Amino acid sequence: MKKELIQEFEKVFGDAEGVQVFFAPGRVNLIGEHTDYNGGHVFPCALTIGTYGAVRKRNDDKLRLYSMNFADLGIIESSLSDMRPKEETQWTAYPKGVIWTFEKNGYKLPSGIDLLLYGDIPNGSGLSSSASLEVLTGYMLKTLFGFDVSNKDLAVMGQYSENNYNGMNCGIMDQFASAMGKKDNAIFLDTATLEFEYAPIVLNGYKIVVTNSKVKHSLVNSEYNTRRKECEEALKQLQTVVDCKTLGDLSAEDYATHARVIADPTVRARATHAVCENIRTIKAVEALKKNDLKEFGQLMNASHVSLRDDYAVSCPEIDVLVDAAWKVEGVLGSRITGGGFGGCTVSIVADASIEEFKEEVAKEYKEKCGLECEFYVVEIGDGPREL
Ligand code: GLA
Repeated sequence: MKKELIQEFEKVFGDAEGVQVFFAPGRVNLIGEHTDYNGGHVFPCALTIGTYGAVRKRNDDKLRLYSMNFADLGIIESSLSDMRPKEETQWTAYPKGVIWTFEKNGYKLPSGIDLLLYGDIPNGSGLSSSASLEVLTGYMLKTLFGFDVSNKDLAVMGQYSENNYNGMNCGIMDQFASAMGKKDNAIFLDTATLEFEYAPIVLNGYKIVVTNSKVKHSLVNSEYNTRRKECEEALKQLQTVVDCKTLGDLSAEDYATHARVIADPTVRARATHAVCENIRTIKAVEALKKNDLKEFGQLMNASHVSLRDDYAVSCPEIDVLVDAAWKVEGVLGSRITGGGFGGCTVSIVADASIEEFKEEVAKEYKEKCGLECEFYVVEIGDGPREL
């Protein structure tokens, strides 16, 4: 990959002198969905697919950015002297947002860059191509210019940039999973404190299979923001009767006692998801530590039901994929993963059942939705690095 990127860089920018090549991964979340802006726990892992960047410093303040995934847009040129968020910016809003965030934090770039990008995360799949691009950009800047920032800082700055430059009000999970990824481990992260623990994923005889529905409904951003507001509203009402800073602070007992204070049933259902999903995530990690994969899978299934019914972030296509997966023997658990309204499911499937899983799920998806899905038997990879 490194060689191909350098060759491409040479083609696009004329020569490849001084070029360095980097990679940052995408992520899949095993459990703990829509908890990261509610002070809860998440349990994602980094993938071996992600975003690659070939980059070098320039002698002036120009930014010359090119993506092999959007080759028809050619080189998009701008300047460090004008980094304000702009409506018209294309994909370059992600790397530019990170540069803008670095500058806001006192890490001023002494010069511009030439940058060529390539991503192998399927478009719109919900496997965090944008977070991987943000973390990649931060990691490249830190290495090129010698900025003293940790990988954890890269996650925080990536999220800040996505919230404030790109206008997507996401939590910290995606950037954290990309920046802190560790081969064969998932990350058990407390999003209230950013304390975390690596948990080895030893799935004797099972694999993690991601199924891409290849649908992405346009609701994602607006509904995401609505869910955030509903959770804030629920928290405010709960705080009138119980001492808590976030929904993630509440135990099942506390919540059962006080949930009635949330007047609107829809808002109450959202809070039920946020509180119970956090508890499920903690339990799932305990189950994994005890090697109880069956329990882990059941908690994944319960997570899906809750995201579908209480949080209402699934969609008919995803529900068909999950229902079909649940019917296959050898599937321990299956659920929607990521923000919702399309994207991917994640399933734990016995090695011996993988072929049957693919056949059955694809067949049912075609029959019921008239669509083709795609399967990835994923490996858990490391965080950002220079190649
Ligand atoms: C998106 C956001 C994350 C997280 C998930 C839902 O991926 O970027 O911060 O909220 O949705 O768990």
